[in-house]
This record gives sequence, C-alpha cells and structure tokens, in this order.
Amino acid sequence: MREPAYIVDLPHVYSGKVRDIYDVGDNRYLMITSDRLSAFDVVMAEPVLHKGRVLTAMSAYWSEQLSDVAPSHLISTDVRDVPQAAAIDDLAGRIMVTHKADMLPVECIVRGYLTGSAWKEYQRSGTMHGTRLPENLLEASQLPEPVFTPSTKAADGLHDENITFDQAVDLLGADLAEQARSISLELYRRGSALARDRGIIIADTKFELGHVDGQLVVADEILTPDSSRFWAADHWSPGSTPPSFDKQPIRDHLDTLDWDKTYPPPPLPRDALAATTNRYIEAYEQITGLSFSDWPGVST
Ligand SMILES: Nc1ncnc2c1ncn2[C@@H]1O[C@H](COP(=O)(O)OP(=O)(O)O)[C@@H](O)[C@H]1O
Ligand SMILES: [Mg+2]
Repeated sequence: MREPAYIVDLPHVYSGKVRDIYDVGDNRYLMITSDRLSAFDVVMAEPVLHKGRVLTAMSAYWSEQLSDVAPSHLISTDVRDVPQAAAIDDLAGRIMVTHKADMLPVECIVRGYLTGSAWKEYQRSGTMHGTRLPENLLEASQLPEPVFTPSTKAADGLHDENITFDQAVDLLGADLAEQARSISLELYRRGSALARDRGIIIADTKFELGHVDGQLVVADEILTPDSSRFWAADHWSPGSTPPSFDKQPIRDHLDTLDWDKTYPPPPLPRDALAATTNRYIEAYEQITGLSFSDWPGVST
C-alpha cells in the first residue's frame, strides 16, 4: 500500500496508484482520486492538474448513463456530504462517496479492438485469452464482436495475468462468471457506441465489479481514459495502434529517453504535463458534451 496523496481525518483503508480510500462508516467509502499519472505501471513524480477531477466526472457520467445496465457503487460526488473531506483544500470535484463493495477477484476486461497484450498473444498463437480468432487480423483491427477477456488482479507492482473464461469460472463459479461477462459486455457495447458517435474509440476497458447487499454493481472508475484505451477515431487505421488519446504527450516524451520503465520515473516537462491535462479534459467534454469548467473545484 502507498502513502495517501490526501490525508483526511477518517480511518484510512487503502491507497493505490491513483486513489485514497477512507471509511466513512455505514458501509460507505470516501474515494479520493488524485492527479497521479502512471505510465508503464510506474507512477510519475509530477501530478497532472485536474486529472482526478476528470476521472471522477467521467465515472459519474457513465454511472448515470449506464444505470439501467447495472447499478454502480456511486452515492455522491458532493464533497459537502463528507465534512472531514470538505474541510480539506482541493478535494472538491475529486471525491466519490460509494457503497463498500465486496470486489470480485478478477478484472472484467472487454476488448473491441485487437491491441496491447491481446495483439501480442494473437501474433504468437492466433488466439486471444486462449480462444481462437479469425486469421489475418491486423494490429488494432476491430474484433468481429466485443469479447470478455478477464484477468487476475495482481498485487501492486506486478502485472495482471490474462486468463481464459474457464479460469474465471474456476475463480467465480459459473453463474457469477456468466453474470460478470454479460454485464461487462453490455456496459462496453453501450458506452463504446456512445463514445464512437462522438469521435472517440474505446478500444478496450477494464471494469471492476463487486457485490453490495448481494447485488452485483460496477465499482471503481467507469470507462475512463485510465481504465480504457481511448483513440481519436480519426487516427485509427488497422495495421498499427493509434496514439492514446490522453497519454500521448507523456509517452512521446518518455520515448525520447533511455528509461528502463522502473522506479524512479524520469522528471516530466511542464508542457507535456499541461498537454496531458488538456487531453483528459478534451476526452471528457467530447464524450459527455458537458463543460468541464462547470465541474466542482475547476474554476475556483
Ligand atoms: N466500491 C468499492 N468497494 C471496495 N473497493 C473498491 C470499490 N471501488 C474500487 N475499489 C478498489 O479500490 C482501489 C482503487 O484504488 P486505485 O488507486 O485505483 O488502486 P490500484 O492501484 O489498485 O488500481 C482498487 O483496488 C479497487 O479494486
Ligand atoms: Mg485503479
């Protein structure tokens, strides 16, 4: 576990790469999304201004848009609902009050396009998570249909491991694995169709599901640039993976360095950080049609 980015006068539960979680009682969590950015699973030293607010705003948007597919863990994004958080500077717009969920031990990944580790496996063996795919697919090809490709949840610092659906059944039982698959596929289908209409391809994404009072809910962040690969639809052409909508300025900079992708991260130039903030905001505004300056904590 990491040091929290924000110290709040509540019992501290967990701090991950990006979020701090505190217990607000009543089976509820306060989740604070920091401006930390991770690249190649290494957390950069410098924050990306407002990134945590964009991730919070976007998750809240999807939670509402997709509420008929599955309920989410989200209760409120209003910092005034948690006095101990409202007392602290900079928390407006980056908090979620959530139901505490009993998380499934798998990451519910859905892929609509062939890239990343799935493209690597396909090149090696013609399969994706062990299932055969059509021949002659190119890197970043759209798959015939979206596929549920779960992975294990690795401890911090380790990489998650792709598993087959049968392995997910071993971990969850057949009914729950089936339920997780159908919810994840429907969330992806609906969300990616909406984003595509607005010029953004969501190539793949990771949902985290959990139980609240015996019901399966979508927890964590939902269809954000951090949990998904966002591509500008204009820049997509099968044969190579398009630049990531959000992290491209940082990746471009890191590519010029001789850095071995382990800690400590190299310092990041100011213009790359500012460009990244702008990309996150652009993704939010493009998808939601809302103005980010209306979100709490932004224009104050
Ligand atoms: N409603 C919830 N109840 C319990 N745990 C949750 C809930 N929503 C998200 N989580 C967990 O909280 C953590 C979020 O912190 P984050 O910084 O994203 O961690 P990580 O570095 O592990 O991705 C994740 O481990 C996620 O599984
Ligand atoms: Mg996370």
